[in-house]
Amino acid sequence: MTLHRVAHLADIPEDRGLEVSVQDSKILLLKVGDHVRAYQGECPHAGAPLVEGALCHGRLTCPWHKGQFRIEDGGLCEPPALDSLKRYPLEVRGDEIWVDDQPLQDAHTPPADDERTFVIVGAGAAGTAAASALREKGFGGRVLLIDREANAGYDRTVLSKFVIAGQTPLEEIPPLRDEDFYREQRIERMNAEVASLDAANKTLQLVNGQSLKYDAALLATGGIPVRPQLPGADLPQVFVLRSKADAQQILHSAKAGQRAVIIGDSFIAMESASSLRQYGLEVTVLARHPVPFAKQFGDSVGKAILALHQANGVVYRTEGQAAQIEGATRVEAVQLDNGQRLPADLVLVGIGVTPATAPFTDLPKENDQSLLVDGGMRVADGLWAAGDIATFTLNGQPQRIEHWRLAQQQARIAAANMLGGDEHYLDVPYFWTWHFGKNYDYLGCAQAWDEVEFKGDPGNPPFIGLFGKNGVVTAAVACDEERTMAMLAERMKQPLSVDEAWRLIRS
Ligand SMILES: Cc1cc2nc3c(=O)[nH]c(=O)nc-3n(C[C@H](O)[C@H](O)[C@H](O)COP(=O)(O)OP(=O)(O)OC[C@H]3O[C@@H](n4cnc5c(N)ncnc54)[C@H](O)[C@@H]3O)c2cc1C
Ligand code: FES
Repeated sequence: MTLHRVAHLADIPEDRGLEVSVQDSKILLLKVGDHVRAYQGECPHAGAPLVEGALCHGRLTCPWHKGQFRIEDGGLCEPPALDSLKRYPLEVRGDEIWVDDQPLQDAHTPPADDERTFVIVGAGAAGTAAASALREKGFGGRVLLIDREANAGYDRTVLSKFVIAGQTPLEEIPPLRDEDFYREQRIERMNAEVASLDAANKTLQLVNGQSLKYDAALLATGGIPVRPQLPGADLPQVFVLRSKADAQQILHSAKAGQRAVIIGDSFIAMESASSLRQYGLEVTVLARHPVPFAKQFGDSVGKAILALHQANGVVYRTEGQAAQIEGATRVEAVQLDNGQRLPADLVLVGIGVTPATAPFTDLPKENDQSLLVDGGMRVADGLWAAGDIATFTLNGQPQRIEHWRLAQQQARIAAANMLGGDEHYLDVPYFWTWHFGKNYDYLGCAQAWDEVEFKGDPGNPPFIGLFGKNGVVTAAVACDEERTMAMLAERMKQPLSVDEAWRLIRS
């Protein structure tokens, strides 16, 4: 144990932590009642400086993607972080704080003391979070994580933001867990495709003919991008973007100076427009809406993001929808239904996904093909579902929401309940989206609002906007207001009046 003097007690502000450095490590000092704690200073998810997070209700919320940790012991409360904070031993000598340069070792592999087999289908956001959570919550039995992608679970969200912009090489896409984790935690990964499910007999059938019995299973198969039913949609340069393989194909085809036509104005479509533009392509978006994201973010933020795209050279058009993709062996143009023809070298389609539930023929499906889960993410006896395939109840309404953090939260709830728990979703949905170097954060799920008010100008961040219904905040959208949004992520778990929210924001 080598202790280093790092600060005086009075240096730690009451309402936030203090970041100090010990050798090469950044360490966050927090006051907890009369005690001081020292945690790793960078978020275990993607390295955000936790000193810029918010301390509220006994939790530290990460400024970037709103992962949450208990202030008392650094324990993981909410993803997208999948680990608790590393804790550093410390001593308070008089008014001086001395911190060890080595964190406490966190031996955390439950003993193999359980005969049961839990199978997780899909190793994406939800599946990988569930596998981790089963071990975190002490399950010692067999955990089998099946995915038809050969890669271990990885961060899909960077594909449209950084990978096809040429900023993150494919081989540097962050894995959700490293190889040591799977080995140490005895999580078996199987590269296979599930063909069918016999829920009554708790059996899965794989495409390779193998049958697997389970004691409990989680379905987390995500979404399959919708492809347009257009002549020419099967040409080789017509892409969707869901997987590493999709990104690889896009990068293989895209060259600076080429013309890309993006069909759709979804988040993935617009993020891809930003990225391909940054990669040096001429980008035209064939949009369905006059203003992107107006339904989620409201008109003024949607217009600001549109202006950002246009200022960076993206052409956003709403007249004419794609009627045909022309080309003999490769894409040459997109023919519109108003007779116009847009020359193109590649087409990227971003018009939504269909829940990947085709193998689960004996389960009832919603109209959109998703699986209806109960409050504990349960579909049937011994069977749970999470992520993009799950319709769950939020604010009294059945909802299917395609957010990374929510998929992982649902998965953690399902994991707890697979172990006999009774957990329910009690949080506020959160997602982020990235355009030309600007990150927009969104909290809540406002389908309608009767008031919206901004601090700052959406066209010139930083700004934060609150959407209210009957005087209560239903959603918040912001850019460059990370600590405030981290605070709201915690405060909006309980009904928060618009007036109180503004008071907190302005205090
Ligand atoms: C490019 C992109 C960018 C995004 N950016 C953001 C963002 O910035 N913020 C945000 O909140 N959300 C974002 N999302 C949405 C987010 O990624 C999804 O909501 C999330 O991944 C859903 O998690 P999931 O586990 O349900 O599905 P996935 O992460 O898609 O995982 C499903 C897995 O199941 C596997 N699978 C499917 N069928 C089978 C089968 N039959 N047998 C075996 N395996 C199967 C698939 O191969 C896949 O690996 C983005 C999505 C994409 C595609
Ligand atoms: S960096 Fe902290 S949650 Fe992503």
